[in-house]
Amino acid sequence: MSHNLYLYPKFIRLWHFINAVMFLLLIVTGLSMQYTAPDSPLIRFDIAVKLHDIGGITVSINYLLFLMGNMVTDNGKYYRIQAKGFTTELKGQFRYYIWGIFKGEAPPYPISKDRKFNPLQKLSYVLVMYMGMPVIILTGLALFFPQVFDLLGLGSLIVADVIHVLMGIVLTMFMLIHLYFSTFGRTMFSNFKSIISGWHESSQAPG
Ligand code: HEM
Repeated sequence: MSHNLYLYPKFIRLWHFINAVMFLLLIVTGLSMQYTAPDSPLIRFDIAVKLHDIGGITVSINYLLFLMGNMVTDNGKYYRIQAKGFTTELKGQFRYYIWGIFKGEAPPYPISKDRKFNPLQKLSYVLVMYMGMPVIILTGLALFFPQVFDLLGLGSLIVADVIHVLMGIVLTMFMLIHLYFSTFGRTMFSNFKSIISGWHESSQAPG
């Protein structure tokens, strides 16, 4: 039996849409600045810099929407990790992904109103949203306002730059894996529809 759960409030959908579009812009402009030769760039260097700045500032302001939304609505509860038993839950979910799913087993931690994310999803979203995003935003700000960074004596700008690029690579990899796992819904496109409509389609009985 299939039923629908309203899991993605408006502010999350708005944040997510802006974030996803801006991430694509940041990845393309970031790759162009980092890896193409100055005389034959993918995007002309000064244009790539401008677009990357616009994307970075937009993602940063938009991130405040995510943070505040998660503070004032109950969406934040889905990001709270209960240490007790969490390792067992991670192992259960991992086993499902490498074994159970191919055997047609039911998911060990089905999505419900109380559990929007399975344990591996929860861990990756928490790491990305509460560690990865602050690191890439703060190092991006350091590169955008080098004088302020210098004035505050926060250290070497080259170190900030290296961390920024490495985190960019990590978050790009996250996004690719995220896209792949997003196809594991009731149908291949169910989860993509959910993040647009707000409604999660589930083939499990309400849990
Ligand atoms: C084209 C790019 C993207 C697509 C198509 C996409 C797709 C999706 C889909 C289908 C969902 C709902 C299923 C789920 O809960 O896992 C989702 C949720 C989510 N995505 Fe993405 N995503 C994209 C980019 C990103 C990026 C760049 C980030 C973070 C850096 C991100 C972070 C999240 C988070 C945190 C949620 C859960 C939001 C909540 O319900 O609280 N996504 N995404």
